[in-house]
Amino acid sequence: PFFLLGGILFSFFLGSIPFGFLIGQAKGVDIRQLGSKNIGATNVGRILGWKWALVVLVLDFLKGFLPVFLVIWLRFSLNSTSVDLFALLCGLFAIFGHNYTPWLKGKGGKGIATSAGVLAALMPKVFFFLVIVWLSVFFLTRIVSISSICVALLFPLFSFLLYPNSPLFFFFSIAASCLALWRHRSNIKRILNGTEPKLKFSKQNK
Ligand code: G3P
Repeated sequence: PFFLLGGILFSFFLGSIPFGFLIGQAKGVDIRQLGSKNIGATNVGRILGWKWALVVLVLDFLKGFLPVFLVIWLRFSLNSTSVDLFALLCGLFAIFGHNYTPWLKGKGGKGIATSAGVLAALMPKVFFFLVIVWLSVFFLTRIVSISSICVALLFPLFSFLLYPNSPLFFFFSIAASCLALWRHRSNIKRILNGTEPKLKFSKQNK
């Protein structure tokens, strides 16, 4: 139980490192005041250019990937259901850490990159298909939030179809999907208003 709690706390604190915000600060901007005001890779791209967006995307992805990968790899002499449960809890807490980071008074990001990292380690088949969906929707709309919302909506369905024998994964997919949709509520309002912008990277790239 101690290492369980330790693992979950480690995941939360890893998730809570606000890379987008920190890189913004290093570049002399407060990302929380600009663009969509989000600390994620998309908004960093809008303000600082695609190279920094890529850096934030990779770092935020790793915050979800690493704890889950470590649990699955080390196993801690647990049986396979317990490994899945432990990995899934670590993943969920990494996403919580990102979305509600204590370092920014609980005002974190939307958790898509971190969730993608969790999925890549925990449910690689679902990850693969959702990446294809994300890219296709983005290719058609050029609006990141629409891609993320579509992926969040389809996650439980893919999880059900590709891991039919894992109710644990299915419950996780429902929780992660609801969390992602909740965090995108300002985007949903803008999409319905017709004011959600297409992604344009800043040319800055410094
Ligand atoms: O993952 C966040 C993305 O879906 C939307 O970002 O900055 O357009 O709110 P943003």
